[in-house]
Amino acid sequence: MKRVLDINQFLHGGDYNPEQWWDEPDVINQDFALFKQAKINTVTVGIFSWAKLEPQEGNYDFSWLDEIFNRVKKMNGYVILATPSGARPAWLAQKYPEVLRTDNRGNKRGFGGRHNHCLTSSIYRKKVCEINTKLAEHFVQRKSLVLWHISNEYSGDCYCDLCKDAFRKWLKNKYGDLATLNHAWWNTFWSHTYNDWSQVNPPSPLSEMGNKGMNLDWKRFITDQTISFIDNETAPLKKITPNIPVTTNMMAGNPLMDPFAGFDYQKVARHLDFISWDSYPAWSNDSQSTEELGRNVGLIHDFFRSLKHQNFLVMENTPSRVNWHNFDRAKRPGMHELASLQDVAHGSQGVLYFQLRASRGSSEMFHGAVIEHRHPEKTRAFKDVTKVGKDLEKISPIVATNYAKAKVAIVFSYDSYWALQDAESYSVNKNIWQTIQKHYRYFYDHDIPVDFVSPEDEFSQYDLLIDPMHFLMSKSYLEKIDNYVKNGGKIVGTYISGVVDENDLAYMNEWPKELQEIYGLEPLETDVLYPGQSNLINFEGKEYPVYDYCETLINCTGKVLATYTTDFYQNIPAVVEHSHGAGKGYYLACRTDYSFLGKFYEKIASELVPEIPITKFNGRVSIQIRENKSEKNWFVQNFSDKEGKIELSCELVNLLEDVKDKGTISLKPFESKVYKLYR
Ligand code: GLA
Ligand code: ZN
Repeated sequence: MKRVLDINQFLHGGDYNPEQWWDEPDVINQDFALFKQAKINTVTVGIFSWAKLEPQEGNYDFSWLDEIFNRVKKMNGYVILATPSGARPAWLAQKYPEVLRTDNRGNKRGFGGRHNHCLTSSIYRKKVCEINTKLAEHFVQRKSLVLWHISNEYSGDCYCDLCKDAFRKWLKNKYGDLATLNHAWWNTFWSHTYNDWSQVNPPSPLSEMGNKGMNLDWKRFITDQTISFIDNETAPLKKITPNIPVTTNMMAGNPLMDPFAGFDYQKVARHLDFISWDSYPAWSNDSQSTEELGRNVGLIHDFFRSLKHQNFLVMENTPSRVNWHNFDRAKRPGMHELASLQDVAHGSQGVLYFQLRASRGSSEMFHGAVIEHRHPEKTRAFKDVTKVGKDLEKISPIVATNYAKAKVAIVFSYDSYWALQDAESYSVNKNIWQTIQKHYRYFYDHDIPVDFVSPEDEFSQYDLLIDPMHFLMSKSYLEKIDNYVKNGGKIVGTYISGVVDENDLAYMNEWPKELQEIYGLEPLETDVLYPGQSNLINFEGKEYPVYDYCETLINCTGKVLATYTTDFYQNIPAVVEHSHGAGKGYYLACRTDYSFLGKFYEKIASELVPEIPITKFNGRVSIQIRENKSEKNWFVQNFSDKEGKIELSCELVNLLEDVKDKGTISLKPFESKVYKLYR
């Protein structure tokens, strides 16, 4: 059964917890009147609603949700229905204390908060499965149900005895015997050899945090525990509502906009039908320009879209401000529309908010909402949301398109990311994601679509792979990239790559053969610079600064594109091009900034710049493509607070303004245009 999100207009709406007002029908009436005004067609209900759905054990009451479904039906809207496992009722926590989490110092948590459950507890899994079954049975006939939203922002781990046992079982299954585990974790060092499985424990500040293999396996275990928790949640939904896709909302860090790394999203994605994520960039902050942050948000959209290589949903945006950034700045005029259309430009099937109505008290009462506490229809947020609702109606047919097919992919491996973050070497701040962001810039600035791939994905459809700081490489990955390049692919690798194998054990004697053959060299030593220090490389007769990491290379058989100009590695190759089979490897031995990367990619990737009828004059304007067999649409967005300019070489339909444009067009600060070309 292929479960797809079956909609014929963009979703516009979001998290809605009407159970807070169930004894005040006027509030609910007002909500639905305002939804109509703001062109809201979707409510996401049931998140954290367990106590209202099952007030006492075995005593379910879904009547309030029935009424919401009835109201949504009347407005021809959609319901995204959540399962309530993200927070549990007090009665459940009291009666079954094993469902609550234990932290890595052994402290058992009490009732409260959310995301406070043991992933292993069979009682908790059973209770979740029971309520999910009841929900699915009750709502199976509802036509407006379009998507299951399981739990909410899964995260965290538990160190209770149940989880420790499960970890040991997982390790036994992976390694078979203790001798193999002792070898993989290199336990002879510091007398850590185990001679009984009961001696094995998860990493903890009270015992051991420095064993690399242990730390890595714990992350992998948490990934698998989360997956089996998810599978348990989704089993009844898939059985009872086989056509309704299942998603869960994922997260990115702030202010960096890097993917959550508590477990492996690439692996988890295989157990979901559809990807969604919650986007909370700190727009208009004091350290990044809006152009730069806009690019970083574009990149993380691309990351999430690539988890299943298909359209996705931004499940949560704020209509105005949050209540948890260091400074909860209001969105500047125009910013909400710009950011919302950016979601869609990168493949989102709608614009959804946290939250539709602000709670009156408790934890998140001051978080921005479509409907605020006072003068709800007069707020800027309400007006901004209404404007986005109108925009989405105007571009409605685009819902049937996909994001453009990419020929470039960035390789991202959670195993490698975790292992390198955990390496007590190089520097305290490895800046792995920032490095990816720097490489992405050339492609974003030149309107070249970019995907992400995991080491498990298929690569053959890409012309170029960008594989920065790939510290941990498994043998199977090495074979895969070897074949990819031999068969004509291009790959860009960098410093601190291919250092350890899948067990986080160093490759011995020489760099892996496959890497030597791809790049035609071997790295020998990594010089780590202090933040205020830099070196220089000479590339095509010009000098460019390099920072943080400078590797020295030996056995270089490729074409030297750049050399170091100072220090004890003066004149040693720093950037090398090497042919391997029908393809090429490019190795960057040092960290450069964009002044070099822009030139470098111009040299090796300019043929990937698409031919489009829109010319822009700088990277402050983003152009993204959504298309299908019969049409092409370009989202042209000005992320600058200055006017932008574009040139249209043929007549295009300007969907938001319902006119046809040609020639020179100016974009106001933060303005978006959506252009359509009929084929
Ligand atoms: C997260 C959660 C929401 C809410 C918002 C606030 O994304 O999923 O429940 O707490 O943050 O920004
Ligand atoms: Zn536990």
